[in-house]
Amino acid sequence: MKRVYSLGIIGHPVGHTLSPVLHKTAAEHNGIELDYKPYDVSPDELRGFMEGLRGGGIDGLNVTVPLKVAVMDFMDELSAAARGIGAVNTIINKEGKLVGDNTDEYGFITSMAENAGEDMACKKVFLYGAGGAARAICGAIDNIGGVDLVIANRTESKAEKLAARLGNRGASVEAIGFDSDKLVDSIRSADIIINATSIGMKGNTEERLPGVEYISKGQLVVDIVYRPLETPLLKQAGARGARTLDGLWMLIHQGARSFKLWTGAGFPIDLAREKLLLELNNN
Ligand code: ATR
Repeated sequence: MKRVYSLGIIGHPVGHTLSPVLHKTAAEHNGIELDYKPYDVSPDELRGFMEGLRGGGIDGLNVTVPLKVAVMDFMDELSAAARGIGAVNTIINKEGKLVGDNTDEYGFITSMAENAGEDMACKKVFLYGAGGAARAICGAIDNIGGVDLVIANRTESKAEKLAARLGNRGASVEAIGFDSDKLVDSIRSADIIINATSIGMKGNTEERLPGVEYISKGQLVVDIVYRPLETPLLKQAGARGARTLDGLWMLIHQGARSFKLWTGAGFPIDLAREKLLLELNNN
């Protein structure tokens, strides 16, 4: 095992990221020396930053909004997951050779299985969003197969593009806009409702997801937003008797997989959640 790992996260902005606390908790737990820094890199600065990365000094990076797709151009190799999803959230620097991977799909599936006890096979899923996070969730759904999926997005054309990427595997995929007259029925008949937009995130709370008032008991409602932990969507879903799953679990599980890719070490899932909850309460 290496003596000191130099890792970090790139995004724009990255000021509020929880990733440093997440990975420092795991490093301490494993007795690994870690230097983990947030790097604010705008899309215009990305080329220069990535060229510098090849020079050495940084062993690996997480990638967040809005760079997950843009960094793909700078990778020497892509994992099957990154290629399938069409985005990179983890970079491994193998002595100047940059390998792009994606652990968001794993994070999502693991949080559904372990923290919601949910097997998605043959379920009806209603997904809000068609951005980078939605791509990873659709990748997971596509791999499971047999899931009837409705993708609803403010910009309908992006939902259509995402739907067209999916293999379908015997189930149905439909793309609609937020103003579609199919929206209410699709929400009513869903087993699982997932928000993969940034609506509800601190700073984006004026907008409301359409159709939330049709959520009912018996449904599982999942939000990928974790700041605040109880988003307006989860609050309303809970009040209507639905089960809920917060976004912190997906963050932790994707981080655990990235940490393993960089260091080979395991991850203290419950301790990480405790530390992140503290951080969310204090900031
Ligand atoms: P991420 O990688 O986090 O998914 P993204 O690729 O920028 O980020 O995608 C953001 C998602 O949130 C998109 O589905 C976006 O909808 P559009 O495709 O119409 O832009 C959605 N979103 C963000 N802010 C929104 C808002 N105020 N109202 C509706 N949708 C919003």
